[in-house]
Amino acid sequence: MKMNNVDKISKLQQTAIVIFGVTGDLTKRKLIPAIYELYLAGRIPKELYLIGFARRSWTDDHLREVFIDAVKTYSDKDYQETAVNELFKNTTYIESTFEKQAGYDQINKLINEKKIKNVLFYLATPPDSYDDIIQSLGNHNNNHVAPGWTRIVIEKPYGSDLESAKKLESLVHTVFEENQIYRIDHYLGKETVQNILVLRFANGIFEPLWNRRYVDHVQITVAETVGVGTRAGYYESAGVIRDMFQNHLMQLLALTAMEAPVAFSADCVRDEKVKVLRALKPYSPEEVLENTFRAQYGSGYVNHERVKAYKDEDGVDPLSVTETFLAAKLYVENWRWSGVPFYLRSGKRLPKRMTEIAIHYKQVPLPLFNWQNTAGDAPNVLVLRLQPDEGITLTFGAKMPGPVNQIAPVKMDFDYETSFHSKAPEAYVRLIQDALYGDATLFTRSDEVIAQWAFTDRIFKGWEISKRKYLPVYEAGTWGPLGADQFIQGNNRWWRNPEN
Ligand code: BG6
Repeated sequence: MKMNNVDKISKLQQTAIVIFGVTGDLTKRKLIPAIYELYLAGRIPKELYLIGFARRSWTDDHLREVFIDAVKTYSDKDYQETAVNELFKNTTYIESTFEKQAGYDQINKLINEKKIKNVLFYLATPPDSYDDIIQSLGNHNNNHVAPGWTRIVIEKPYGSDLESAKKLESLVHTVFEENQIYRIDHYLGKETVQNILVLRFANGIFEPLWNRRYVDHVQITVAETVGVGTRAGYYESAGVIRDMFQNHLMQLLALTAMEAPVAFSADCVRDEKVKVLRALKPYSPEEVLENTFRAQYGSGYVNHERVKAYKDEDGVDPLSVTETFLAAKLYVENWRWSGVPFYLRSGKRLPKRMTEIAIHYKQVPLPLFNWQNTAGDAPNVLVLRLQPDEGITLTFGAKMPGPVNQIAPVKMDFDYETSFHSKAPEAYVRLIQDALYGDATLFTRSDEVIAQWAFTDRIFKGWEISKRKYLPVYEAGTWGPLGADQFIQGNNRWWRNPEN
């Protein structure tokens, strides 16, 4: 039987969220504003216990102040003093290193003393602390101490290659059951990403055209204007491939290509996504080199501001060959998609922040129009604009007014904000809510993460044989170097101009 929200909230009485790495950026920028928003919307109970766990020597009061400040600084919602006081009244800080025993005993003590029924552990630390935390939670029986449920939320990066991901998986599974584990890919929490399945499966007109018979190719772009910022320590060994491709881009691909699930339940949706990931054409090292293109940003102008080259950023090795731009061509070798290329690209320091999925349809036969289509080579493109200008556009050819049959490209447009009079909410609001309600649909399952790494590992193998001493450089504020265009033009296709 389905539970309504009131039932779900009443089941959440006496719940604690234990945040490891509570002093970090993620907590104040994302987690606390999201918890506040859920609280204001009445989607979590009034009595919530927030337990922060970190190394710095802070007190309960200091943590409360930091939370209040996070609401003031980062929440889109109005600041309401009474709400904030109530929400943060049960805030406790545990000062401990992640491998130290006492901290974990303290968690258990609190759970017993406060008669806490359910616990959500949230790993908001850098990934090198995951092993210690998970192992310690197991050693101290923290995973079973609450009488209700115990769950764990794990942030990305989830491993750094197939082997490390498998190791992490086996450790997590020695302590938690799969249904207790919530692996975050925050793109799945985005409203427009969830809308991919609604567009496809709640409408009659798109799905019949969503296959190799009609689709020429698909382009998935995640473009950012930001550079590496203060994260060089992590990014230098990650690059776009680990930071964006292995997770966000592959999830967008899976949602675009998957079959209809039997139901909107965690397992049914994830069963279908994993089939796509397993159907990806496995590339040999030589094929990897043909089907991927990487580059690094140089200096340039972004939003009229002069920005540094990647190699000049703080903490970056001046000889770095870490890619900040990646384009890849993938094939989903199944009945629906055989032969249809999926072009994925992502980069930092591009001219515009923009995430979109563009379905390019095949050209019609043109003898009626003197073999010409002035609307473009294949004018039908369905663009799912995921952010920041959320909406969907269909372009098609229409007759230009006048005595001759000339075709011009025109658009049908849906704009999220105009239609719903609101901006799409922050991904973390939905994700934290779902982790508390016990719905794992928008979290990645073990087999998905492993399939994503298995494919990504093949790319590493290809890149290893061509040990690069330098990468092509693109001027910051441009759509990548010439090679990025040549990469797709070699197949007689073009990157979509995001201004169109
Ligand atoms: C994160 C990456 O997962 O996603 C960042 O680590 C990236 O490098 C960010 O900037 C992009 O997220 P969003 O929601 O701003 O598109």
